[in-house]
Amino acid sequence: MDAGGDNLAGQEESPPDAVNQGTIRFRGATLMFGKSSKVALLHKVPLFRDLSRRQLERIAGLADELDIPAGKRLATAGETGQELFVIVDGHATVKVGRGRTSRLGPGEFFGEMSLIDGGPRSATVEAAVDMKLLVVGRREFWSLLNAAPSLGLKIMSTLSRRVRDAEATVSA
Ligand code: CMP
Repeated sequence: MDAGGDNLAGQEESPPDAVNQGTIRFRGATLMFGKSSKVALLHKVPLFRDLSRRQLERIAGLADELDIPAGKRLATAGETGQELFVIVDGHATVKVGRGRTSRLGPGEFFGEMSLIDGGPRSATVEAAVDMKLLVVGRREFWSLLNAAPSLGLKIMSTLSRRVRDAEATVSA
């Protein structure tokens, strides 16, 4: 991953795709990389819709693209978590407690809670179908918010909704 920097100002300065793309294996999944293809991908994700090209280029340097098979567990309640996931394609099942489940689809994200407070995962999340995700590590998460502060507001708003949801589950 690259932490961004002065060389991100213009498209011309991005390395050609031939030397900037490839695939590697990551935790049983295929990970693909390539900044310009990632910018195109980011552009399609509603969470990033209002961001500038420059912001998308910075985020492309912070996020990795993952293809995940159906059934793969992406977060386990009670365990530590080091990543934020943004769903590009497919959907995930979130086991939110008391047997209740919630479904997250394209443009939605999960894993923000553990990154924000350093606590364990609040829920178990599994790929319900084959999925394409963007994954952002703990350190890159803060750089992401720095690159695009408006994302912080969107994340806070979603987080409030999830807390209300959890409280409603507890008091039901
Ligand atoms: P985190 O606690 O890091 O890991 C599990 C994730 O599940 C959590 O972050 C949220 O992103 C997500 N999550 C928790 N509760 C809900 C909910 N009620 N609805 C949707 N997603 C949730």
